[in-house]
Amino acid sequence: MALQSADLQGLIEKLHARYSSLLEGALASYIPELARVSPRLFSISITTVDGKTFSVGDVDVKFTLQSVSKPFVYGLASQELGRAALHGKVGVEPSGEAFNSIVELEKITHRPHNPMINSGAIAVTSLLGPADPKDRFSKILKLFSDLAGRKLEVDEAVFQSERSTAHRNRSIAHLMRHFDVIEGDIDASLDIYFRQCSILADVRDLSLMAATLANGGTQPQTKSRVFPRETIRDILSLMFTCGMYDSAGEWAFEVGLPAKSGVSGGLIAVVPGKMGIAVYSPLIDSRGHSHRGVSVLKDLSSELGLGIFSESES
Ligand code: DON
Repeated sequence: MALQSADLQGLIEKLHARYSSLLEGALASYIPELARVSPRLFSISITTVDGKTFSVGDVDVKFTLQSVSKPFVYGLASQELGRAALHGKVGVEPSGEAFNSIVELEKITHRPHNPMINSGAIAVTSLLGPADPKDRFSKILKLFSDLAGRKLEVDEAVFQSERSTAHRNRSIAHLMRHFDVIEGDIDASLDIYFRQCSILADVRDLSLMAATLANGGTQPQTKSRVFPRETIRDILSLMFTCGMYDSAGEWAFEVGLPAKSGVSGGLIAVVPGKMGIAVYSPLIDSRGHSHRGVSVLKDLSSELGLGIFSESES
């Protein structure tokens, strides 16, 4: 795949045109503030490991990271606590259940299956230091600002909206407290998790975050090292097996790339050693993935032979 810059720009423009009239799916409404956006918003961005960014559509529209934040905060916690200690609390198996499931926690392992589902991500954020919630969140916000190469902020309205309606996540957190997966001030840790989900970014920021993973942990434009290589290996493994929740198998089969979705409509995929891809479109499917995002990624992967087991020379 000797892809030229013009080819990538042309390809994403073609895909944007192909799917701009696709309006299947629904806006996430269990966080009321997320249902207040236009369902027509749609943008695609690719950043290559040599730092070139190609974008199309509503590229200046900002949206909240939601679950796209999970692999990155996992990477931070893995470095801080150590891989073995962190995985003593949070597993590495796909759950086969919805992202917000509580059932396996209660019935099977009594600990989260993996860090990509809500239970695992809440545990990761709770286990992260320091104890002072302000400092802990500052560390998370700095991580995402380093990944995007610019200072990011929180959408306070989305944060408050999730915070005041998060009965399911609160149940999950309290059940984990009961099983000694987490300790300390549960409400403070949940607030940090809701804040990390409410960090605002645009589609270019997301492609830079994905490209940092594709580039072995070094942000391809600022050249700053955000993660060590060994952490990238763990992040990408978990994104590949668990990032798309109960459709992770189908995703591996059809797209073949480590990926992570968020209910606000962001979706990232990583082509190791080559590029980070991001799509934003807020209409989501029943699994919580951007509907257009899934379609764009399927086409991009098959047209460019991007899947990690693909036979092409890419
Ligand atoms: O915890 C939640 O439910 C949301 N803040 C994030 C969930 C999410 O993005 C699921 N992914 N597609």
